[in-house]
Amino acid sequence: MKDLSPKKDDLEPIEIASRDEISALQLERMKKTLAHAYENVPFYKAKFDEAGVHPSDLKSLSDLSKFPFTVKTDLRDNYPFGMFAVPREEVVRIHASSGTTGKPTVVGYTKNDIDVWSDVVARSLRAAGVRKGDILHNAYGYGLFTGGLGAHYGAERLGCSVVPVSGGMTARQVQLIEDFKPSAITVTPSYMLAILDEFKKQGIDPRASSLQVGIFGAEPWTNATRKEVEDAFDMHAVDIYGLSEVMGPGVANECVETKDGLHIWEDHFYPEIINPETGELVEDGEEGELVFTSLTKEALPIIRYRTRDLTRLLPGTARSMRRMEKITGRSDDMIILRGVNVFPTQVEVQVLAVAGLAPHFQIELTHQGRMDEMTIHVEATVDAATEENRALLSKALSKKIKDNIGVSARVVANEPGGVPRSQGKAVRVIDNRDKG
Ligand code: DLL
Repeated sequence: MKDLSPKKDDLEPIEIASRDEISALQLERMKKTLAHAYENVPFYKAKFDEAGVHPSDLKSLSDLSKFPFTVKTDLRDNYPFGMFAVPREEVVRIHASSGTTGKPTVVGYTKNDIDVWSDVVARSLRAAGVRKGDILHNAYGYGLFTGGLGAHYGAERLGCSVVPVSGGMTARQVQLIEDFKPSAITVTPSYMLAILDEFKKQGIDPRASSLQVGIFGAEPWTNATRKEVEDAFDMHAVDIYGLSEVMGPGVANECVETKDGLHIWEDHFYPEIINPETGELVEDGEEGELVFTSLTKEALPIIRYRTRDLTRLLPGTARSMRRMEKITGRSDDMIILRGVNVFPTQVEVQVLAVAGLAPHFQIELTHQGRMDEMTIHVEATVDAATEENRALLSKALSKKIKDNIGVSARVVANEPGGVPRSQGKAVRVIDNRDKG
């Protein structure tokens, strides 16, 4: 793999500023954001009044904990534009996430918001080792999802030649990578694995491809997948995090020189970690639910938004800003099986540890009498696909899951191609418990 570490001179001064400078900037911006939200969004005014707090109560960053949380249903209840803090005419872009039930969550951006977003995505891509002049293949979905356009604007801001492929048509993805020779690709990690399969299907050596770095996010993925992709393509695999309610991609990003968790761009997004049950703040270093307050957003200031993502805050390394550990999972995706908490990322690690299994998996939950049962659907690689072998692979994974996660799972090792492929975010859990 090529050394893609950025030079110190390429960084923005704030990326390597002192903690005191960062905190001072955060406090100034947080005061403005709270006032902006209170004065311009009736929802925030009512919520702060009800909690007996006023923006002027914020004297230090830690005073933020006096303010109420915002949750996804608050955005749904104010559908479509009730959370906007500027006249609708000043909103130049609208995105929305569909979710699985009910109305979508709508978010809006002013021209300045789009500028800031482009800057933080450009900073993220630079941290990943992308440079001005690079060709970047963008396979995040374009449309209401923030991935495609978010990565696109950031890559243009950095000065890349952007190929706006979007997701899907996997054979064409491979052809364009072969023909245009991009050095960078932005895509969900699960779809990258589908692209890897297609390279193999077409008889093309992925290690000989032009790709030097992939910037993967929009869903949880583990260091086991990082190794799988880095070995397969001889490229760096770097994590990018974000969510529409807070901005989109580019809230936090790993640095290619350390790959030790994601630096949060704290000059624009203020993180807290809470105990998801009690809502109490926990110390840096302790795991809990990630909460964000935007510090510069105009159209949709967001105060103490509960992301449902579970992680820990860690001190800065390659940059001064704090890191978040790779996301363990969403609290919504946590499976409780006979009292044991299981995240799909834990299953991912075990699947990748069994030689002969492809890196694709899906978890199905059913009722067996009054007990919940977990079935893990995986598939054998092409050279390990005999029926006899597949039976052995099932056994091996079942044992690994019992030994390392502590639950009993049924494993079905399918033939190659037997697990549905994603073109964006993978669906990891199919819940059939209500279906008899
Ligand atoms: O997924 C934004 C994005 C696009 C991020 C492209 C990175 C790359 P939403 O559709 O609103 O926005 O989904 C946000 O996706 O709360 C996490 O649960 C999950 N997620 C996003 N990035 C990561 C990541 C985009 N790197 C939700 N690791 C978030 C784990 C992630 N989960």
